[in-house]
Formats: sequence, structure tokens, C-alpha cells
Amino acid sequence: MTQDELKQAVAQAAGDYVAKHAPAGSVIGVGTGSTANFFIDVLAGIKHQYRGAVASSEATRMRLESHGITVFDLNDVDHMPVYVDGADEIDGGLNMIKGGGGALTREKIVAAVADTFVCIADTSKRVGTLGSFPLPVEVIPMALAHVSRELAKLGGRPVLRKNFVSDNGNLIIDVHGLRIADPQGLETKINQIAGVVCNGLFALRPANVLLLGTADGVLTIP
Ligand code: A5P
Repeated sequence: MTQDELKQAVAQAAGDYVAKHAPAGSVIGVGTGSTANFFIDVLAGIKHQYRGAVASSEATRMRLESHGITVFDLNDVDHMPVYVDGADEIDGGLNMIKGGGGALTREKIVAAVADTFVCIADTSKRVGTLGSFPLPVEVIPMALAHVSRELAKLGGRPVLRKNFVSDNGNLIIDVHGLRIADPQGLETKINQIAGVVCNGLFALRPANVLLLGTADGVLTIP
């Protein structure tokens, strides 16, 4: 199977999960990235069962709307049963690195509102220890140099993402060379650096369910 076929398979499994667990008339949270895009295409087929969606990025909002799915402002939604999104890395505790597409802040906000975070990923994303994928950190532009120095003190090699501005008007630093033994501790520590908006560790609020695309089919973990 190609990687796209694995992504399609997990997107379909996520559609089945939503159909089973999200009550009719509810609002679905939708992530960002190539795997999430396949899920949006699946959601289009069952959209009549739901009130609409909340988007975790402008790109996702546009794709949802192109399928005729109503997109709500998060402030107008008080309950969201399920959030579906991909990951750049996911470990055995369902802690993740996200933000390869730069949408980490809105992803974390939408995920915080949802009852259940369903991560959809192919086997290439499964790791023992997080950190081979550079950790994205969204930063207020005036704090770039300060935050870079502080991230270097934590043992990483901060690299400014070139020609990129987030949906929130901020910059992204990708931190290379981290071996993340304590994902919750590092997520907390990075959040405390002045000028950091958000970091791509999703460990304080990990996924609840992983739908993992393998050559032998989609595994549901746990
Ligand atoms: C977007 O900012 C990211 O968090 C994505 O969810 C993540 O990078 C996974 O993307 P792919 O499905 O394209 O690998």
C-alpha cells in the first residue's frame, strides 16, 4: 500500500468512528494536513448527519467549505464530541508532535474543546521516543531571538521556518535534535518561555484514540 492509501484508510476509519460516536446534529472538530484532508473528503459524504465543523486552520476551513460543510467559529460551539487530526509523530502513550503544517496553535485550541481526540496516522508516524521530527514552536515575532536562545538552553537546535507566517500572524521555530524523554515536562517548560504562543507537543492533552494505518489494516489503539 502507498502512504496515501494508508492515509485514505485511516480517514475512512475516522469517518466510521465519527458516525458511531458523534451524535447526529453535533459539530465535528477537524485538523490540518494531508491525512486530515482525506478525512474532510470522507466527512463530506456524511455531512448531512452533522450541524457542521470547526476548522483548525484557514486551509482546513477552505477545504470544508468547498465540500459545502458549514464551518463554525469555535466561540459559537460549546460542545464538540470528537476532534480528528493527524500527527507528525506519536508515541506509545499517544503523546504527539504536531505542527509540521504550522497549524499547531489552533489545533491545540480546538482539541482542548473536544471530548475525544482521534489521531489518524500511518505507521511512519509511530515512534518509541518523540523528537526525531523537529518540534515546532509558534512565537511572537519580537521574541524570536529570546525564544531561540532559551530553546537552545533546553538542548535543541532552533531553526526559523523560512517564508512562513502562521494563521495567527506569528513565526515558527523548528527545534531539531531533541530526544523527548518527558513530553509533558517539556511541553510545560516551553510554554513558560516569554514570547512562546504554543508548542507542538500534545502531551498534556494527548490523543484518546489512535487509528493507525498499517499494511495489515487499520489498528485502533488503545
Ligand atoms: C499541521 O500543523 C500538523 O499538525 C499536521 O496535523 C501534521 O503535520 C500531520 O500532517 P500530515 O497528515 O500531512 O502528515
